[in-house]
Amino acid sequence: MIEPPPYFDALLDRLAAGDPVAGAAFGRHVHWGYWPDPAAADGTGTDYARAAEELCRRVCDAAPVGDGLRVLDVGCGFGGTVASLNERFTNLDMTGVNIDPRQLARAAETVVPANGNRATWVEGDACALPFADAQFDVVLAVECVFHFPSRAGFFAEAARVLKPGGRLALSDFVPTVAGLPKLRENAAATGDETRASYGAVDLLCPEDEYRAALAVAGFTDQQFEDITVHTLPTYEFLKANATRWQAPDRAKAYARATKRLEAAGRLDWLRYTILSCTAARDLRRGDWRRHANARPVAIHSRPVATRAVSRLT
Ligand SMILES: C[S@@+](CC[C@H](N)C(=O)[O-])C[C@H]1O[C@@H](n2cnc3c(N)ncnc32)[C@H](O)[C@@H]1O
Repeated sequence: MIEPPPYFDALLDRLAAGDPVAGAAFGRHVHWGYWPDPAAADGTGTDYARAAEELCRRVCDAAPVGDGLRVLDVGCGFGGTVASLNERFTNLDMTGVNIDPRQLARAAETVVPANGNRATWVEGDACALPFADAQFDVVLAVECVFHFPSRAGFFAEAARVLKPGGRLALSDFVPTVAGLPKLRENAAATGDETRASYGAVDLLCPEDEYRAALAVAGFTDQQFEDITVHTLPTYEFLKANATRWQAPDRAKAYARATKRLEAAGRLDWLRYTILSCTAARDLRRGDWRRHANARPVAIHSRPVATRAVSRLT
């Protein structure tokens, strides 16, 4: 059984209690923000929400998404990406998938399809997607791949469910060559603290491994865009509100883990990256399990139960 990241426990409590800052900043998207001008960030929940929406749009535009497409959003959180697409496009058939039924229930409650769009919410694991082959035009994964049991496993699944020539777009933290050994050291020394606040995370897949793993799954036209500098105001906001995002006994550890992430970004050890690529046209699937760089190679023997939480039209 894969556990959802622990920061969702505190966040769901905050949202249930009607916390206005939590509601503004993380009631829709649960990810970093993008500030076109980082110096203009003002530290409010509303400003953060605007930046989070901007980041989401940039990932969707990297695909790109257009009217009438079938879109799968993997690790969909509270449905913020689907909500954003719902406002921007028409006649989309959108599916959000997540391991956490509590997040899916909020998505089903808060996202009201409009513009001829449809939205379906499905419980499932990114590395064992509960869909038939060649169903989707676009697969999205906004800031969640580092939580998945295996990047290679997810890429194989994304390639399988995409139509030939379909597009994958995602955002992730990608270590630089210089940063990788430092991040390895950090993970060994402080991994437990990071896990306690952020859950299971793997931030150790550098660009060359990333490209190789995508290629094994059959993805071509790989584009990597480093947007780190535009995301940096995220850290001030997270640290200033640490007691909102974690239970009191965990807030200090969370603030320290967040500081380490910030330092890694500022030192160019870890790049916040938007990636996009195209699925093979002949649907030939690589065997990611045999790929030398596939880490960690683990597919869960008991996939999360599959069920549609609700379908709204
Ligand atoms: C940082 S949140 C991002 C949520 C959403 N994409 C957004 O941008 O608002 C990470 C998400 O990944 C989901 N997740 C973690 N592991 C997963 C897995 N194995 N399969 C599907 N979703 C997963 C979490 O439950 C959470 O919703």
